[in-house]
Amino acid sequence: MWLNILKGISDKTRLRILNLLFNRELNVNEIIDILSTTQSNVSKHLKILKSIGLVKERKDGTWRFYSLNKIDPKISSFLEDIFKDKEFKDDIDRLEIISEKRNFISRKFFLTNEGQGLGQFYSLDNLIFAFAFLIPSNSRVLDAGCGEGKLLKILAKNRSIELYAIDYYRDSINSNLFSKDEFERIKFYREDITKTDFEKNYFDIIFMNMVLHHIGEPRDAIRECLRILKSGGKLIIVDFYKHNYENMRQEYGDIWLGFDLEYIKNILSEGFKLKDYYLLENTNNLPDNFIIHIEKK
Ligand SMILES: C[S@@+](CC[C@H](N)C(=O)[O-])C[C@H]1O[C@@H](n2cnc3c(N)ncnc32)[C@H](O)[C@@H]1O
Repeated sequence: MWLNILKGISDKTRLRILNLLFNRELNVNEIIDILSTTQSNVSKHLKILKSIGLVKERKDGTWRFYSLNKIDPKISSFLEDIFKDKEFKDDIDRLEIISEKRNFISRKFFLTNEGQGLGQFYSLDNLIFAFAFLIPSNSRVLDAGCGEGKLLKILAKNRSIELYAIDYYRDSINSNLFSKDEFERIKFYREDITKTDFEKNYFDIIFMNMVLHHIGEPRDAIRECLRILKSGGKLIIVDFYKHNYENMRQEYGDIWLGFDLEYIKNILSEGFKLKDYYLLENTNNLPDNFIIHIEKK
């Protein structure tokens, strides 16, 4: 093995290629650019470096990228010493130009096109999934009044949290929304959020999305959340702002026609601190919404 490696690296072009790959992954054209040589020459040397296991290849569409394999530390430090030589350093300086050239594809696009360029590929859902990872590891999170589980679908992306869900009127959440692994991690109970069986000081975060206006005495739900939240725990409520769409009582079983901030402040029990309140106006002849962030003292 040693003989092969020593033979493999005893060539100036191969050493120059290794020097570049010590710094970053490159494709053949980029190596050609820096070394000012031919494609066949670079390909030949890359093949040898791959055969002795120093270099590996990765495909990205029709592009092929080359990078260093895991290298024995003895070889690595031997090479690093060689690469201190001025000639090798000049090659590294040329890497800068490669970065510029690579970015040029995108830069040209963004400078000559309006908008963000993602168009049909833009997914707000994906962004929301990404936000689930901001919930600290090992947090115990409850989705109160989970319905079929739309919010759980987002939260379940974060495998490091303990996920609980309750709903009073539905036996089960919709398993089709989840992967098998996600679904198995959700602890679902049929419970009333005004009166649960959870121990006190149990949860780090409770979400309650569009549930409060279905509860006969919202104050009781808030009081129960206060009981089962840990000190410093957060209660996030999203619901309708006060509205006049009377028909929603018949059509959607709503008890309350939304809530204004005064009402929420009024039903907040002593132990809560109102941290944030945000009104989300709706322009489509639908009730406005609010988000409220409450912390248990
Ligand atoms: C409009 S849905 C919202 C569902 C879910 N939070 C979402 O964002 O998709 C309201 C849910 O609250 C549940 N619910 C109503 N009163 C409840 C209570 N006292 N305890 C627990 N869940 C309740 C209903 O069964 C229903 O699934």
